[in-house]
Amino acid sequence: MVEVRLRVNGAIESLDVEPRVSLLDALREHLGLTGTKKGCDQGACGACTVLADGERINSCLALAVQYADREITTVEGIATGGRPHPLQTAFIANDGFQCGYCTSGQLCSAIGMLAEHGAGAPSAVTEHLSTTGIELTDAEIRERMSGNLCRCGAYNGIVGAIRDVADTEPVRSEPVRSEPVRSEPVR
Ligand code: FES
Ligand code: FES
Repeated sequence: MVEVRLRVNGAIESLDVEPRVSLLDALREHLGLTGTKKGCDQGACGACTVLADGERINSCLALAVQYADREITTVEGIATGGRPHPLQTAFIANDGFQCGYCTSGQLCSAIGMLAEHGAGAPSAVTEHLSTTGIELTDAEIRERMSGNLCRCGAYNGIVGAIRDVADTEPVRSEPVRSEPVRSEPVR
């Protein structure tokens, strides 16, 4: 066992874990943060997406010990001041989910994706690089979110939700909160 200190949603947590424990399992099984989902457990579905220092990662492919002292944000930590994140509101307004299993990963991925786009990062479908910004077309959104699968096929609503937020306000991917957030285990 090794001791690892994780910073999750503004709280500092010390855990004793085996070095092979994934960040996903550390979040779910050790910290009770079950909002982050396990789908494939091999990097193919995106259900486990969280933010590490504002960048989206698949937590099933990350070892907890790799992310010691990095700022991890899970879906439990994206609301601020008791108000849902704009993407959460937009997902509801656009029917961006059905069963909801993929939704935590979709939300974290979308936050990271919008920050990447805002920083000028191109995607595989970007036709014209520009110093004044890349147009975030629906094709761009679909490509940039292609690592997050939805078995219910709620893709049109997901794209609509992201489109609404992208058109109305900049999305911050760094953690913004006033107090630590923990969830009770709900499986
Ligand atoms: S559970 Fe991590 S990518 Fe599927
Ligand atoms: S809403 Fe069911 S898997 Fe996406």
